[in-house]
Amino acid sequence: MNTKQRLPFVYRELVFELGSGNGKMLFDLSNRNKNKDIFFIGIEIDRLQYEESCALTTSAASNILFVNDDIENVVTKLEDDTVNMFISILPHPTFIGSENVTKWKPFYIKMLRKMKDHGQFLLITECTNEFFSPVSIEEYKKWRNWITSSFIDMGYRILLALDDSPSGFSSYYLDQFKHDTNRIKVLTLLLEKIT
Ligand SMILES: C[S@@+](CC[C@H](N)C(=O)[O-])C[C@H]1O[C@@H](n2cnc3c(N)ncnc32)[C@H](O)[C@@H]1O
Repeated sequence: MNTKQRLPFVYRELVFELGSGNGKMLFDLSNRNKNKDIFFIGIEIDRLQYEESCALTTSAASNILFVNDDIENVVTKLEDDTVNMFISILPHPTFIGSENVTKWKPFYIKMLRKMKDHGQFLLITECTNEFFSPVSIEEYKKWRNWITSSFIDMGYRILLALDDSPSGFSSYYLDQFKHDTNRIKVLTLLLEKIT
C-alpha cells in the first residue's frame, strides 16, 4: 500500500490497528471521529475475523478499512514518515513475547520509521507467567521494566504507562482478560516517535 498516493486527501490522519481481531474496537474508534477526517485501517491475518470486521462497515462513506494480511507485509510496504498512529491491543506472543524478541524488535524498529515525527504507538499488552498462576507485584514490575526499556532501546519515547487498560477501551480479548486480573496483568504504553 502506497500511503502517500492512496490516502484520500480529505483525511488528516492515518491510524493502523495491528491484529484487529473482530474489528469492533477500531469500528467504535472510527465512529467517535465525528469529523471523519481520520482514516482507520485494521489488519487481521485470520480470515473469519477479517470477514466479521468487514460486516461492521456497510456505509460507503466509511472512514475505515479492514485488510486481511500479515502485519509484517503491510507495515513493510508503507512509506516512511506517513503514519500518525499504530495501535496494538494484546498482540500475539510472536510480536511481544520474551521468547520472540529477536523477531519483534526488528519489526517495531521498522514500524518506527513508518511513523511521522510525534506519531504514536498505543500498545496494550499483558503479563502472565509460565504456570498461569497469579502474577506477583514483583514479577509484574520486572516484566514492565523489561518491556518499557525494550521500547526505549528501539528509539521510542514513553509518553504514558498505565497499569491497566485505558478507560473507554473495549476489545474482545481485553473484555475477557478483565475477568482474571490476578493472573493477567494488563499494561498500557503510549509511545512516541521523536526524530
Ligand atoms: C490476542 S488477539 C487480539 C485481537 C484484538 N486486538 C483484541 O484485543 O480482541 C491477536 C490477534 O492478532 C492476529 N494476528 C496474529 N498474528 C498476526 C499477523 N502476523 N498479522 C496480522 N494479524 C495477526 C490474530 O489473528 C488475533 O486476531
